[in-house]
Amino acid sequence: MKIAVLVSGNGSNLQALIDAQCMQHWSGEIVGVISNKADAYALERAKQANIETQVIEHKAYPHREMFDDAMHHQLIQWGVDLVILAGFMRILSEKFVKAWEGKMINIHPSLLPLYKGMHTHQRVLNTGDVFHGCTVHYVTAELDAGPALLQGVVKVAQNDNANTLAKRVHELEHLIYPQVVEWICNQTIQYQSGQALFKGKPISKPLQLCQM
Ligand code: GRF
Repeated sequence: MKIAVLVSGNGSNLQALIDAQCMQHWSGEIVGVISNKADAYALERAKQANIETQVIEHKAYPHREMFDDAMHHQLIQWGVDLVILAGFMRILSEKFVKAWEGKMINIHPSLLPLYKGMHTHQRVLNTGDVFHGCTVHYVTAELDAGPALLQGVVKVAQNDNANTLAKRVHELEHLIYPQVVEWICNQTIQYQSGQALFKGKPISKPLQLCQM
């Protein structure tokens, strides 16, 4: 399976995927990294791992669709089977999402369907939730709403602030994202007609890894 990772920033999830690729012997390979920002540190991480990089700056395109088309062409050129969004901070057009339906996953820092969108850690604290975490899900046209696959769960401590929570959630992201990719590579997870399957059975509730 040929994998591309789309990034915009630090790329700690990309690093976790690069490390796991070496350690876990996936039947997949990260063949390229695309960033919409030329100064994303994620690009350095890819270069250090000898992975091809492409900067496709959204600012260079007058319309979202044109930017997405440029990414699409690069992905096709690399022969990509799986697209991984790892801190990619652009909303994707419906056309792009349709083209990669069932072949594109994202990680979001909340227990979806709770807290779609931004500033999830602070919103969890404001609400006073007991649990928080992260979710790997297939990408569909609706933001942060595609079939959820695996979640990492942390308990919110009394003295947590948005930074301490973010740190613990991030650590869990680095565990669950490579796990999902391994499962997709070995077909433990599959996507059929808008539904995610685990070992051939529909995932009605995402699997959970709890770190208390
Ligand atoms: C992560 O918190 C992820 O959940 C969100 O963007 C952040 C990316 O972090 N989608 P990094 O660039 O992988 O360090």
